Amino acid sequence: TVGAVADDFLYNAFVVGGFVRDLLLRKTNMDLDIVVEGDGIAFARTLAKKLGGRVREHERFGTATIILHSGLKIDIATARLEYYEYPAALPTVELSSIKLDLYRRDFTINAMAIQLNPAHFGRLVDFFNSQNDLKQMAIKVLHNLSFVDDPTRIFRAIRFEKRMDFTIARHTERLIRNAVKMNLFGKGDDPRFFTELKLLLNEENATPAIERLADLGLFPFLWPDLRPHLNIDRRLRHCLVQTQRAISWFKLLYAGDQYDPWIIFLLAIMGRSPLSVLATFCDRFHVPPKTRALLLGEKQLADQASRQLATAGPPKNSEIHLAFKELRIEGLLYVMAVARKTEVKKAVSSYITKLRHEKPLLGGDDLKQLGYRPGPIFKTILETLLIARLDQEVKTRDNEIALVS
Ligand code: CTP
Repeated sequence: TVGAVADDFLYNAFVVGGFVRDLLLRKTNMDLDIVVEGDGIAFARTLAKKLGGRVREHERFGTATIILHSGLKIDIATARLEYYEYPAALPTVELSSIKLDLYRRDFTINAMAIQLNPAHFGRLVDFFNSQNDLKQMAIKVLHNLSFVDDPTRIFRAIRFEKRMDFTIARHTERLIRNAVKMNLFGKGDDPRFFTELKLLLNEENATPAIERLADLGLFPFLWPDLRPHLNIDRRLRHCLVQTQRAISWFKLLYAGDQYDPWIIFLLAIMGRSPLSVLATFCDRFHVPPKTRALLLGEKQLADQASRQLATAGPPKNSEIHLAFKELRIEGLLYVMAVARKTEVKKAVSSYITKLRHEKPLLGGDDLKQLGYRPGPIFKTILETLLIARLDQEVKTRDNEIALVS
């Protein structure tokens, strides 16, 4: 369909980027990035009508996103000719706009295209020897100014290196180290820094990626407060291993549950910092207000719960419940990861597997039947019943009735 619409418009249309890379690596990738040599927005409107989906337009960039009823997303961009951008680097005459579009991308492995027009359907467009780099498992930039144009690509280089077990090529690594030395990131106020950091921390097993961030000298930029530990120190490494272990444990037990690993890693990295340092981090990287509140809330509650449980003797179940009940899974796994006492780790595991699911057997209707008038008292009674149940002071329904009568 895409190719046919492109022919109607007399445009060349290509699928580009990560989709092509993953196709050649035989990996699935559900994000379709399409580039047309023409007006991308008009093209997207017509295509969305044919496919049945909504279009979100980004006028300023000449791009659009089609969201199909199935949930599949198609990004459509316009390949524009802007000869003046790299005047010395390229002989402009022979350039097609797709070539320039690909040249502006982050790495050679992400700079291939496959044509979609029926007459050339499936033709692989590889101007930059990308297939060879894929074979060599090398991450290479397309030109020396790549990280100057877009320093967030440094995070992407690390992410791809660790995800696919590739290697950042020597020259590209040198460019990264130069960019870091030149402090190219400025204040880090491009929101894409945080977006890319999140993606990096969300990768399967983020630890090697975090170590690479430290190795390439990015820690002082990301976490200036951890400055003494330019190279990840033993404590942080231990903490990362524990974080990974906590996540794996949870994943094994609750395969279907949704949670954000990046939150756990971020909290763990900043585990020894006070709340104010996390707040400064959020401000510096323009973390959206909702996410900021969530991160700060989780850290505050989790640190408080850890302290409470670590200082007292063996906690009662009701105390564990009280300490943890406001925390999300991310906060709980963070507590598990950073806890030094096995008792605290055990408390988290017992809370996640058992205690959080406990409820009194009696409900509001039962209380009404027992003669209580609905009101705030209901909450108090149900809480008392829950505490008694958690601490195994009641077992049966009759035990509960006896307690509230
Ligand atoms: N891209 C780029 N520079 C960036 C971000 C993206 O050049 N800072 C280009 C790359 O060609 C990339 C494409 O835009 O392949 C799509 O970006 P994105 O969806 O973020 O990357 P994917 O390669 O699809 O990565 P992932 O597999 O993680 O989705």
